[in-house]
Amino acid sequence: MISTDFGPNEDGNDAILSLITLFSPWTWRMGDAILKAKKQLESLFPSSKAILLMSGRAGIKLILQALNLPPTSEIIVQAFTCEAVVLPIRALGFKPVYVDIEKNSYSMDLASLQNKITPQTKVLILQHTFGMIPKNRNKVLELAKSHNMFVIEDLAHGFDPVFWQKEKLSDNQVLTLSFGRSKALSSVFGCALITSNKSLHDSLGAVEANLPYPSLWFIFQLLCYKPLALLIRYTYSFLSIGKIIHKSVTILRLMVAEISVKEKAGEYDPYLELKYPNCLAKLLTFQLEKYPHMQEQRKIVCNIYSSCVGVMPSIPKDTALCRFPLLIENRDMLVKKLAVQNIFLGTWYTQAVAPRGLDLGKVGYHVGSCPVAEDVCRSIINLPTLVTVEEANKIIKMINIQCSVNDH
Ligand SMILES: Cc1ncc(COP(=O)(O)O)c(C=O)c1O
Repeated sequence: MISTDFGPNEDGNDAILSLITLFSPWTWRMGDAILKAKKQLESLFPSSKAILLMSGRAGIKLILQALNLPPTSEIIVQAFTCEAVVLPIRALGFKPVYVDIEKNSYSMDLASLQNKITPQTKVLILQHTFGMIPKNRNKVLELAKSHNMFVIEDLAHGFDPVFWQKEKLSDNQVLTLSFGRSKALSSVFGCALITSNKSLHDSLGAVEANLPYPSLWFIFQLLCYKPLALLIRYTYSFLSIGKIIHKSVTILRLMVAEISVKEKAGEYDPYLELKYPNCLAKLLTFQLEKYPHMQEQRKIVCNIYSSCVGVMPSIPKDTALCRFPLLIENRDMLVKKLAVQNIFLGTWYTQAVAPRGLDLGKVGYHVGSCPVAEDVCRSIINLPTLVTVEEANKIIKMINIQCSVNDH
Protein backbone atom coordinates (compact mmCIF):
# COMPACT_ATOMS: atom_id res chain seq x y z
CA MET A 1 0.00 0.00 0.00
CA ILE A 2 1.20 3.48 -0.87
CA SER A 3 -0.67 6.24 0.93
CA THR A 4 -0.42 10.00 1.28
CA ASP A 5 -2.54 10.07 4.44
CA PHE A 6 -2.06 6.80 6.27
CA GLY A 7 1.11 6.58 8.39
CA PRO A 8 3.23 8.45 5.82
CA ASN A 9 6.04 9.23 8.30
CA GLU A 10 6.47 5.94 10.06
CA ASP A 11 9.12 3.30 9.45
CA GLY A 12 10.10 0.16 11.36
CA ASN A 13 12.24 2.09 13.85
CA ASP A 14 9.35 4.45 14.72
CA ALA A 15 7.13 1.41 15.27
CA ILE A 16 9.71 -0.30 17.49
CA LEU A 17 10.18 2.85 19.58
CA SER A 18 6.40 3.09 20.02
CA LEU A 19 6.24 -0.57 21.08
CA ILE A 20 9.09 -0.18 23.59
CA THR A 21 7.35 2.91 25.00
CA LEU A 22 4.04 1.04 25.12
CA PHE A 23 5.68 -1.45 27.47
CA SER A 24 7.24 1.28 29.67
CA PRO A 25 4.10 2.96 31.07
CA TRP A 26 6.14 4.75 33.79
CA THR A 27 7.57 6.94 31.00
CA TRP A 28 4.20 7.81 29.43
CA ARG A 29 3.41 11.05 31.18
CA MET A 30 6.59 12.47 32.72
CA GLY A 31 10.24 12.27 31.76
CA ASP A 32 13.14 14.11 30.19
CA ALA A 33 11.97 13.79 26.55
CA ILE A 34 9.86 16.97 26.80
CA LEU A 35 12.90 19.11 27.60
CA LYS A 36 14.95 17.35 24.93
CA ALA A 37 12.28 17.97 22.27
CA LYS A 38 12.06 21.65 23.27
CA LYS A 39 15.85 22.01 23.02
CA GLN A 40 15.87 20.35 19.57
CA LEU A 41 13.13 22.71 18.37
CA GLU A 42 14.80 25.78 19.84
CA SER A 43 17.98 24.90 17.95
CA LEU A 44 15.98 24.86 14.70
CA PHE A 45 14.43 28.27 15.42
CA PRO A 46 17.27 30.34 16.96
CA SER A 47 16.46 33.00 19.60
CA SER A 48 13.03 31.47 20.17
CA LYS A 49 11.34 29.44 22.85
CA ALA A 50 9.07 26.43 22.34
CA ILE A 51 5.84 25.40 24.04
CA LEU A 52 4.56 21.86 23.48
CA LEU A 53 0.88 20.98 23.33
CA MET A 54 -1.29 18.15 22.03
CA SER A 55 -2.56 19.81 18.84
CA GLY A 56 -2.23 22.76 16.51
CA ARG A 57 -5.94 23.54 16.85
CA ALA A 58 -5.63 23.83 20.64
CA GLY A 59 -2.46 25.90 20.06
CA ILE A 60 -4.29 28.43 17.85
CA LYS A 61 -7.03 28.76 20.46
CA LEU A 62 -4.56 29.31 23.31
CA ILE A 63 -2.64 31.94 21.32
CA LEU A 64 -5.83 33.86 20.49
CA GLN A 65 -6.86 33.72 24.15
CA ALA A 66 -3.44 34.90 25.29
CA LEU A 67 -3.62 37.94 23.00
CA ASN A 68 -6.64 39.39 24.90
CA LEU A 69 -8.32 40.58 21.72
CA PRO A 70 -11.48 42.73 21.65
CA PRO A 71 -14.64 40.61 21.12
CA THR A 72 -15.28 42.15 17.67
CA SER A 73 -11.88 41.06 16.33
CA GLU A 74 -11.53 39.72 12.80
CA ILE A 75 -8.95 37.03 12.09
CA ILE A 76 -7.68 36.67 8.54
CA VAL A 77 -7.19 33.14 7.19
CA GLN A 78 -6.78 31.86 3.69
CA ALA A 79 -9.46 29.81 1.97
CA PHE A 80 -8.09 26.38 1.03
CA THR A 81 -7.54 25.48 4.64
CA CYS A 82 -8.68 23.01 7.25
CA GLU A 83 -11.41 23.47 9.84
CA ALA A 84 -8.74 22.86 12.51
CA VAL A 85 -7.56 26.43 11.83
CA VAL A 86 -11.00 28.04 11.88
CA LEU A 87 -12.92 26.24 14.63
CA PRO A 88 -10.79 27.78 17.43
CA ILE A 89 -11.51 31.26 16.00
CA ARG A 90 -15.26 30.58 15.99
CA ALA A 91 -15.12 28.98 19.44
CA LEU A 92 -13.81 32.26 20.87
CA GLY A 93 -16.49 34.29 19.09
CA PHE A 94 -14.13 36.01 16.64
CA LYS A 95 -14.88 36.40 12.95
CA PRO A 96 -12.78 34.43 10.43
CA VAL A 97 -12.25 36.50 7.28
CA TYR A 98 -11.31 34.45 4.23
CA VAL A 99 -8.70 35.58 1.70
CA ASP A 100 -8.52 33.90 -1.70
CA ILE A 101 -5.36 32.10 -2.85
CA GLU A 102 -3.18 32.26 -5.92
CA LYS A 103 -3.78 29.21 -8.08
CA ASN A 104 -0.13 28.21 -8.40
CA SER A 105 1.22 28.94 -4.96
CA TYR A 106 -1.70 27.77 -2.80
CA SER A 107 -1.11 30.75 -0.54
CA MET A 108 -2.72 34.15 0.03
CA ASP A 109 -3.41 36.41 -2.91
CA LEU A 110 -2.05 39.83 -1.97
CA ALA A 111 -4.82 41.86 -3.66
CA SER A 112 -7.52 39.76 -1.99
CA LEU A 113 -5.76 40.23 1.35
CA GLN A 114 -5.57 44.01 0.96
CA ASN A 115 -9.33 44.11 0.30
CA LYS A 116 -10.17 42.19 3.47
CA ILE A 117 -8.30 44.31 6.04
CA THR A 118 -10.56 46.45 8.27
CA PRO A 119 -9.99 48.33 11.54
CA GLN A 120 -11.24 45.16 13.31
CA THR A 121 -8.52 42.95 11.79
CA LYS A 122 -6.26 41.99 14.67
CA VAL A 123 -4.62 38.72 13.65
CA LEU A 124 -3.49 37.16 10.38
CA ILE A 125 -2.88 33.43 10.06
CA LEU A 126 -0.30 32.84 7.34
CA GLN A 127 -0.48 29.23 6.21
CA HIS A 128 2.56 27.51 4.69
CA THR A 129 0.51 25.13 2.56
CA PHE A 130 2.16 21.72 1.99
CA GLY A 131 5.23 23.16 3.78
CA MET A 132 5.88 25.84 1.12
CA ILE A 133 7.09 29.31 2.10
CA PRO A 134 4.17 31.54 0.98
CA LYS A 135 5.17 33.30 -2.23
CA ASN A 136 4.17 36.73 -0.89
CA ARG A 137 5.41 36.10 2.66
CA ASN A 138 7.57 39.23 2.99
CA LYS A 139 4.87 41.51 1.59
CA VAL A 140 2.21 39.91 3.80
CA LEU A 141 4.40 40.40 6.90
CA GLU A 142 5.01 44.05 5.95
CA LEU A 143 1.30 44.61 5.43
CA ALA A 144 0.52 42.99 8.77
CA LYS A 145 3.09 45.18 10.49
CA SER A 146 1.76 48.36 8.92
CA HIS A 147 -1.77 47.49 10.15
CA ASN A 148 -0.56 46.47 13.60
CA MET A 149 -1.72 42.88 13.22
CA PHE A 150 -0.38 39.91 15.12
CA VAL A 151 0.82 37.11 12.79
CA ILE A 152 0.43 33.40 13.43
CA GLU A 153 2.58 31.60 10.88
CA ASP A 154 1.01 28.21 10.46
CA LEU A 155 3.77 25.70 9.70
CA ALA A 156 1.52 22.72 10.45
CA HIS A 157 2.32 21.06 7.12
CA GLY A 158 6.09 21.29 7.56
CA PHE A 159 9.02 23.68 7.46
CA ASP A 160 12.49 24.02 6.04
CA PRO A 161 15.03 24.27 8.92
CA VAL A 162 17.60 25.96 6.63
CA PHE A 163 15.18 28.85 6.00
CA TRP A 164 14.37 29.31 9.70
CA GLN A 165 18.03 29.35 10.79
CA LYS A 166 18.32 32.75 9.10
CA GLU A 167 14.93 34.19 10.12
CA LYS A 168 14.47 36.43 13.11
CA LEU A 169 10.97 36.39 14.59
CA SER A 170 9.36 39.67 15.59
CA ASP A 171 7.46 40.22 18.83
CA ASN A 172 4.21 40.23 16.86
CA GLN A 173 4.72 36.77 15.51
CA VAL A 174 4.33 33.17 16.62
CA LEU A 175 4.90 29.96 14.67
CA THR A 176 2.62 26.94 15.06
CA LEU A 177 3.95 23.50 14.16
CA SER A 178 1.87 20.34 14.11
CA PHE A 179 3.04 16.82 14.78
CA GLY A 180 -0.19 15.19 13.68
CA ARG A 181 0.25 11.86 11.89
CA SER A 182 -0.26 13.24 8.37
CA LYS A 183 2.11 16.20 8.72
CA ALA A 184 5.85 16.35 7.94
CA LEU A 185 6.82 15.18 11.44
CA SER A 186 4.62 12.88 13.44
CA SER A 187 4.13 12.03 17.08
CA VAL A 188 0.54 11.03 16.15
CA PHE A 189 -0.81 14.20 17.78
CA GLY A 190 1.21 17.21 18.93
CA CYS A 191 2.11 20.81 18.34
CA ALA A 192 4.81 23.35 19.12
CA LEU A 193 4.32 27.08 19.49
CA ILE A 194 7.53 28.96 18.75
CA THR A 195 7.96 32.59 19.73
CA SER A 196 10.63 35.09 20.68
CA ASN A 197 8.08 37.26 22.50
CA LYS A 198 8.95 36.69 26.16
CA SER A 199 5.66 37.79 27.69
CA LEU A 200 3.65 35.71 25.20
CA HIS A 201 5.90 32.73 25.90
CA ASP A 202 5.43 33.18 29.65
CA SER A 203 1.66 33.35 29.43
CA LEU A 204 1.47 30.34 27.08
CA GLY A 205 3.93 28.53 29.35
CA ALA A 206 1.63 29.10 32.35
CA VAL A 207 -1.28 27.60 30.38
CA GLU A 208 0.90 24.66 29.25
CA ALA A 209 1.88 23.93 32.86
CA ASN A 210 -1.73 23.80 34.03
CA LEU A 211 -3.18 21.58 31.31
CA PRO A 212 -4.28 18.10 32.40
CA TYR A 213 -2.42 15.00 31.17
CA PRO A 214 -4.11 12.75 28.60
CA SER A 215 -5.76 9.67 30.12
CA LEU A 216 -3.72 6.44 30.15
CA TRP A 217 -6.20 4.88 27.69
CA PHE A 218 -5.75 7.79 25.26
CA ILE A 219 -1.95 7.48 25.52
CA PHE A 220 -2.25 3.72 24.94
CA GLN A 221 -4.30 4.36 21.76
CA LEU A 222 -1.75 6.91 20.47
CA LEU A 223 1.19 4.56 21.09
CA CYS A 224 -0.60 1.83 19.14
CA TYR A 225 -0.83 4.00 16.03
CA LYS A 226 2.67 3.66 14.55
CA PRO A 227 3.03 -0.14 14.87
CA LEU A 228 -0.53 -0.71 13.68
CA ALA A 229 -0.21 1.72 10.75
CA LEU A 230 2.94 -0.04 9.60
CA LEU A 231 1.42 -3.50 10.00
CA ILE A 232 -1.66 -2.47 8.04
CA ARG A 233 0.37 -0.82 5.27
CA TYR A 234 2.65 -3.80 4.75
CA THR A 235 -0.12 -6.42 4.80
CA TYR A 236 -2.75 -4.41 2.95
CA SER A 237 -2.38 -6.12 -0.41
CA PHE A 238 -1.55 -9.54 1.03
CA LEU A 239 -4.84 -11.49 1.09
CA SER A 240 -6.48 -8.29 2.37
CA ILE A 241 -5.00 -8.99 5.80
CA GLY A 242 -4.23 -5.29 6.31
CA LYS A 243 -7.82 -4.37 5.47
CA ILE A 244 -9.13 -6.84 8.05
CA ILE A 245 -6.69 -5.57 10.70
CA HIS A 246 -7.72 -1.97 9.91
CA LYS A 247 -11.42 -2.79 10.29
CA SER A 248 -10.78 -4.70 13.54
CA VAL A 249 -8.69 -1.98 15.20
CA THR A 250 -11.26 0.62 14.19
CA ILE A 251 -14.06 -1.44 15.78
CA LEU A 252 -11.90 -1.97 18.89
CA ARG A 253 -11.23 1.80 18.92
CA LEU A 254 -7.47 1.24 19.06
CA MET A 255 -6.94 3.98 16.48
CA VAL A 256 -8.04 7.50 17.29
CA ALA A 257 -9.36 9.49 14.30
CA GLU A 258 -7.56 12.72 13.35
CA ILE A 259 -10.81 14.68 13.58
CA SER A 260 -13.52 14.04 16.17
CA VAL A 261 -17.23 13.59 15.44
CA LYS A 262 -17.91 16.98 17.02
CA GLU A 263 -15.32 18.65 14.78
CA LYS A 264 -16.78 16.96 11.70
CA ALA A 265 -20.07 18.56 12.65
CA GLY A 266 -18.37 21.98 12.65
CA GLU A 267 -17.94 22.50 16.42
CA TYR A 268 -14.67 23.18 18.22
CA ASP A 269 -13.85 20.17 20.42
CA PRO A 270 -11.60 20.81 23.45
CA TYR A 271 -10.59 17.12 23.72
CA LEU A 272 -7.00 17.95 22.68
CA GLU A 273 -6.49 20.76 25.20
CA LEU A 274 -4.09 18.52 27.07
CA LYS A 275 -0.49 18.47 28.23
CA TYR A 276 1.93 16.96 25.69
CA PRO A 277 3.03 13.73 27.37
CA ASN A 278 6.63 12.51 27.63
CA CYS A 279 5.96 9.42 25.49
CA LEU A 280 4.89 11.53 22.48
CA ALA A 281 7.93 13.78 23.01
CA LYS A 282 10.05 10.60 22.74
CA LEU A 283 8.48 9.80 19.36
CA LEU A 284 8.98 13.42 18.31
CA THR A 285 12.68 13.61 19.27
CA PHE A 286 13.29 10.50 17.17
CA GLN A 287 11.50 12.08 14.18
CA LEU A 288 13.38 15.35 14.69
CA GLU A 289 16.70 13.50 14.60
CA LYS A 290 15.89 12.06 11.20
CA TYR A 291 14.05 15.11 9.87
CA PRO A 292 16.99 16.27 7.66
CA HIS A 293 17.10 12.80 6.08
CA MET A 294 13.29 12.74 5.60
CA GLN A 295 13.40 16.20 4.00
CA GLU A 296 16.21 15.08 1.64
CA GLN A 297 14.06 12.17 0.47
CA ARG A 298 11.05 14.47 0.04
CA LYS A 299 13.19 16.81 -2.10
CA ILE A 300 14.29 13.95 -4.36
CA VAL A 301 10.70 12.76 -4.79
CA CYS A 302 9.30 16.27 -5.36
CA ASN A 303 11.95 16.81 -8.05
CA ILE A 304 10.85 13.56 -9.74
CA TYR A 305 7.20 14.63 -9.67
CA SER A 306 8.10 18.13 -10.94
CA SER A 307 10.12 16.77 -13.84
CA CYS A 308 7.37 14.28 -14.80
CA VAL A 309 4.41 16.62 -14.70
CA GLY A 310 6.08 19.59 -16.37
CA VAL A 311 7.33 22.92 -15.05
CA MET A 312 5.69 23.96 -11.78
CA PRO A 313 6.76 27.59 -11.35
CA SER A 314 5.30 27.69 -7.85
CA ILE A 315 7.37 24.75 -6.59
CA PRO A 316 11.06 25.62 -6.88
CA LYS A 317 13.57 22.84 -7.45
CA ASP A 318 14.75 21.10 -4.27
CA THR A 319 11.67 21.94 -2.23
CA ALA A 320 10.66 19.33 0.35
CA LEU A 321 6.88 19.25 0.59
CA CYS A 322 4.89 17.03 2.92
CA ARG A 323 2.62 16.24 -0.06
CA PHE A 324 2.93 17.22 -3.70
CA PRO A 325 -0.07 19.05 -5.21
CA LEU A 326 -1.30 18.36 -8.70
CA LEU A 327 -4.39 19.72 -10.43
CA ILE A 328 -6.08 17.11 -12.53
CA GLU A 329 -9.37 16.67 -14.37
CA ASN A 330 -11.67 13.87 -13.21
CA ARG A 331 -9.91 13.88 -9.85
CA ASP A 332 -12.43 11.70 -8.02
CA MET A 333 -12.34 9.03 -10.70
CA LEU A 334 -8.53 8.96 -10.71
CA VAL A 335 -8.41 8.65 -6.91
CA LYS A 336 -10.84 5.70 -7.06
CA LYS A 337 -8.97 3.96 -9.89
CA LEU A 338 -5.62 4.21 -8.10
CA ALA A 339 -7.16 3.00 -4.83
CA VAL A 340 -7.99 -0.26 -6.61
CA GLN A 341 -4.20 -0.59 -7.20
CA ASN A 342 -3.62 0.11 -3.46
CA ILE A 343 -2.31 3.61 -4.17
CA PHE A 344 -4.19 6.07 -1.96
CA LEU A 345 -3.71 9.69 -2.97
CA GLY A 346 -4.53 12.61 -0.69
CA THR A 347 -7.05 15.31 -1.51
CA TRP A 348 -6.12 18.30 0.66
CA TYR A 349 -8.35 20.19 0.21
CA THR A 350 -11.66 19.23 -1.36
CA GLN A 351 -13.50 22.35 -0.20
CA ALA A 352 -12.49 25.88 0.79
CA VAL A 353 -12.57 24.80 4.43
CA ALA A 354 -11.94 21.05 4.66
CA PRO A 355 -12.90 18.30 5.24
CA ARG A 356 -15.42 17.49 2.55
CA GLY A 357 -18.93 17.52 3.90
CA LEU A 358 -18.29 20.18 6.57
CA ASP A 359 -21.17 22.69 6.60
CA LEU A 360 -19.34 25.82 5.39
CA GLY A 361 -21.94 28.02 7.10
CA LYS A 362 -20.63 26.70 10.44
CA VAL A 363 -17.19 28.18 9.71
CA GLY A 364 -18.54 31.47 8.34
CA TYR A 365 -17.46 30.75 4.75
CA HIS A 366 -19.71 32.08 1.96
CA VAL A 367 -19.66 29.90 -1.14
CA GLY A 368 -18.39 31.90 -4.12
CA SER A 369 -16.36 34.34 -1.99
CA CYS A 370 -12.94 32.81 -2.85
CA PRO A 371 -13.36 31.48 -6.41
CA VAL A 372 -9.73 30.49 -7.03
CA ALA A 373 -9.59 28.36 -3.88
CA GLU A 374 -12.92 26.73 -4.79
CA ASP A 375 -11.66 25.99 -8.30
CA VAL A 376 -8.45 24.39 -6.99
CA CYS A 377 -10.49 22.28 -4.54
CA ARG A 378 -12.35 20.70 -7.47
CA SER A 379 -9.24 19.24 -9.10
CA ILE A 380 -6.45 18.85 -6.56
CA ILE A 381 -4.72 15.61 -5.65
CA ASN A 382 -1.73 15.20 -3.33
CA LEU A 383 1.02 12.72 -4.08
CA PRO A 384 2.98 11.19 -1.19
CA THR A 385 6.52 12.52 -0.88
CA LEU A 386 8.10 10.26 1.75
CA VAL A 387 8.25 7.29 -0.60
CA THR A 388 11.03 5.57 -2.52
CA VAL A 389 12.08 6.66 -6.02
CA GLU A 390 10.55 3.40 -7.37
CA GLU A 391 7.24 4.16 -5.67
CA ALA A 392 7.24 7.74 -6.98
CA ASN A 393 7.83 6.49 -10.54
CA LYS A 394 5.08 3.89 -10.12
CA ILE A 395 2.61 6.56 -9.00
CA ILE A 396 3.43 8.77 -11.99
CA LYS A 397 3.11 5.80 -14.35
CA MET A 398 -0.30 4.84 -12.94
CA ILE A 399 -1.54 8.45 -13.16
CA ASN A 400 -0.35 8.68 -16.77
CA ILE A 401 -2.08 5.41 -17.65
CA GLN A 402 -5.37 6.49 -16.08
CA CYS A 403 -5.23 9.98 -17.63
CA SER A 404 -4.56 8.61 -21.12
CA VAL A 405 -7.42 6.09 -20.68
CA ASN A 406 -9.73 8.96 -19.72
CA ASP A 407 -8.63 10.98 -22.77
CA HIS A 408 -9.81 8.27 -25.16
C1 LIG B 1 -3.14 24.15 7.76
C2 LIG B 1 -3.35 23.48 9.08
N1 LIG B 1 -3.10 24.16 10.20
C3 LIG B 1 -3.30 23.62 11.42
C4 LIG B 1 -3.76 22.34 11.55
C5 LIG B 1 -3.98 21.80 12.93
O1 LIG B 1 -3.11 20.81 13.28
P1 LIG B 1 -3.48 19.74 14.40
O2 LIG B 1 -3.94 18.52 13.67
O3 LIG B 1 -2.20 19.53 15.13
O4 LIG B 1 -4.56 20.29 15.24
C6 LIG B 1 -4.04 21.58 10.41
C7 LIG B 1 -4.56 20.22 10.54
O5 LIG B 1 -4.81 19.49 9.64
C8 LIG B 1 -3.83 22.16 9.13
O6 LIG B 1 -4.08 21.49 7.99
